[in-house]
Amino acid sequence: MKEFGRFDDGRKEFAIDDPATPQPWINYIGNTRLTAFISQQAGGLAWHIEPQTRRLTRYYWLPLPQDRPGFYVYVKNNKTGSVWNPHFAPTCKALEKYECRHGLGYTRIAGELDDIKVEVTYFIPPDEDVMVWSVTAENKSSREASLTLTSYVEFGLLDFQRENFWCYLKNHIGFTYEPKSSWIKYDYHVFEAPFTPAIFFTSSQKPTGFDCSRNAFCGKNGNLDMPESVSSGKMKSSELPSGGHGCGALSIDMKIPAGTKKETAYFLGVADNWGKAAALRKKITGRGYVAEAFSSLQKTWGRKIGTFQVSSGDAHMDRMVNIWNPLNCQVTLERTRDISTDHLGFDGMRFRDTMQDALAVTSFDAKFAAERIKLVLSYQHSDGSGNFSFYPYSAEKKVNVHPERCDNTVWPIFTIDNLIKETGDLSFMDETVPYRDKGEATVYGHILNGLKYIWNRRGKTGLPSLYDADWNDGLAVFRDPKAESVMLGMQLLHAVKMFREYSLKKGRKSDAEWCRKAADEMNSILNSDKVWDGKWYRRLLLSNGMKLGSSSRKQGKIYLEPQVWAVISGAGDFKGRGKIAMDSVRKYLNTANGLMIHSPPYTGIPNPEDPPIGNAPGTGENGAIFCHAVCWAVIAECILGRGDYAYEYYRKNLPAFMAEKLGQEFWEREPYVFTSTIVGPAAGKSFGKPGISWLTGTASWMYIAATQYILGVKPDFDGLAIRPCLPKSIKNAAVTRIFRGKKYDIDLHSKHI
Ligand code: GLC
Repeated sequence: MKEFGRFDDGRKEFAIDDPATPQPWINYIGNTRLTAFISQQAGGLAWHIEPQTRRLTRYYWLPLPQDRPGFYVYVKNNKTGSVWNPHFAPTCKALEKYECRHGLGYTRIAGELDDIKVEVTYFIPPDEDVMVWSVTAENKSSREASLTLTSYVEFGLLDFQRENFWCYLKNHIGFTYEPKSSWIKYDYHVFEAPFTPAIFFTSSQKPTGFDCSRNAFCGKNGNLDMPESVSSGKMKSSELPSGGHGCGALSIDMKIPAGTKKETAYFLGVADNWGKAAALRKKITGRGYVAEAFSSLQKTWGRKIGTFQVSSGDAHMDRMVNIWNPLNCQVTLERTRDISTDHLGFDGMRFRDTMQDALAVTSFDAKFAAERIKLVLSYQHSDGSGNFSFYPYSAEKKVNVHPERCDNTVWPIFTIDNLIKETGDLSFMDETVPYRDKGEATVYGHILNGLKYIWNRRGKTGLPSLYDADWNDGLAVFRDPKAESVMLGMQLLHAVKMFREYSLKKGRKSDAEWCRKAADEMNSILNSDKVWDGKWYRRLLLSNGMKLGSSSRKQGKIYLEPQVWAVISGAGDFKGRGKIAMDSVRKYLNTANGLMIHSPPYTGIPNPEDPPIGNAPGTGENGAIFCHAVCWAVIAECILGRGDYAYEYYRKNLPAFMAEKLGQEFWEREPYVFTSTIVGPAAGKSFGKPGISWLTGTASWMYIAATQYILGVKPDFDGLAIRPCLPKSIKNAAVTRIFRGKKYDIDLHSKHI
């Protein structure tokens, strides 16, 4: 099967040797403020803080060619006249050698043609808001080489949505070149904008030519495939002081003696004002800066992944746990669901998603996780409600309360419990966080208020009301706000049981008593005949009496979520129902490519009993393998002590394993990060195709499933609890865990379990 790339575990990189991957295979680089994604063809986008209103560069999602533009270096060989890119696009000139290596916080792309090798390393250091393009040009021939390197980055309007009002706003920006500082200045003076950052593009050595105008750079009828300024060897010295389509094109002439290398660098920087920008420019163009900044980046990532390292003999599991899953978790917490090659950048943060994304990051960057947790809580309302999404960096701090998700405020306790058990610092519960509308509460108060909010909005059976949907967005198609959610009932049970421990620790007896009563009541409702279907738990009780996820239905007979949460919450301890339910999952939902979210999928036609549904059968919430929910199945099987089942479901969700099994061409997406879904069998030929990559709750939950359940190294109040649930195929595993400042070497032997 055709391979485009492979893992290089020793270097903690994924190496791609064919630039024509089925879809852009991207990496994220950034420091939580300045961030970019970049593909194997150097296509990509950079933004500051958030991508909706502070988008520094341009990227097009919908038109072909895909994955344009990006962070380009054109190479002109002045002896042969040939023009090419080490990252292949956009000239697409065939290279003799090509390699892209995505690593932790950097991407390095090297191309070679006619004995000239040009390598570009892109990264954003932890401390400065600058994207570094570190370039090395090597002359492998026996004669002196003469090259002209030219950068290209395209500037749009920072506010992505308002870019469509281009005709009115194009004069609110300006692009000029300042020879003294050798920088292109992007001056942003959109008067309604709450911020007018200073953006610049510069190089480590004095450029020999520049263009600030995209159109001038490309030439009449030209495009980025062969820009006139590059092919002619004559940069136009274009500027756009009163607006237009700006770009950062700086050319550098180089004579490279035979058999030697030369280094140079480009920088895309951003600061609050031009004074700060000048200071930043001075720092980054100083001697030795690039090497120091890169080493500081490596140390930062070394610390993060050093928290948990495993050697289990399963290469896919090891590389995910040790390298790629932490990266995926970090990116997901930073971005929630805002921008990727799937997301165009409109979504803000989401109450429930960001809270879940913080779950795993608590273990390797507790500080950042805590910041995000508090940020989410500060968007809770004083009546206890959460929201669908919020935009903390927008001028008006926008919030979307619609569509109304009933599960928002059940999530905080799960993540905060994990954080406190990681740090051992119970005082986090006492920190004060404001409500969005009025007043404030401690973290403890926020959680309790949120749980009571769900409790107080229960339906006639006593289960939480659905409103638009619970965790499963797809349930919105039933348009039944008064339906009752079994999944949320189980989650609430789990939440109050967990929260009760904190009430007891804090001596809050009446809260502890409320939790106990709520848990008892919920447990008995969940095990009543209204919810238990005989072999599994139902999913929704609709207000018209119809029961979803029941054997009496033709479609949507069984759902995954209530079965897994029955086990996690302990509701399924009753008469061994959790195990029975998970056996039904295995029987009815397991496929060659993972566990479906429900079965059979809804068609809507020709069965009028069923609702019309957005997702085609086998996709998304309509019968796909929904990876986020599969993580809970892995956890549930570990709780039941069935390591082989847990591991099977885990592996079927591992992108590396699936890309290998189905072939990288078919798999299409990056083999190193999780995807949201895998198309289910009902979709015929697409069965096994992955959905959205990178930004998915799978990243966080799968890290928890692998580290705390399969490998079983789980932080607890008084230390690390070790309860592995290994499959038969793993006899031994060695784990290194840094926990509360101490290093633990843990040997797991399956014969001892
Ligand atoms: C997507 C959404 C998440 C939702 C899930 C299930 O992952 O980002 O909010 O809970 O789908 O519908």
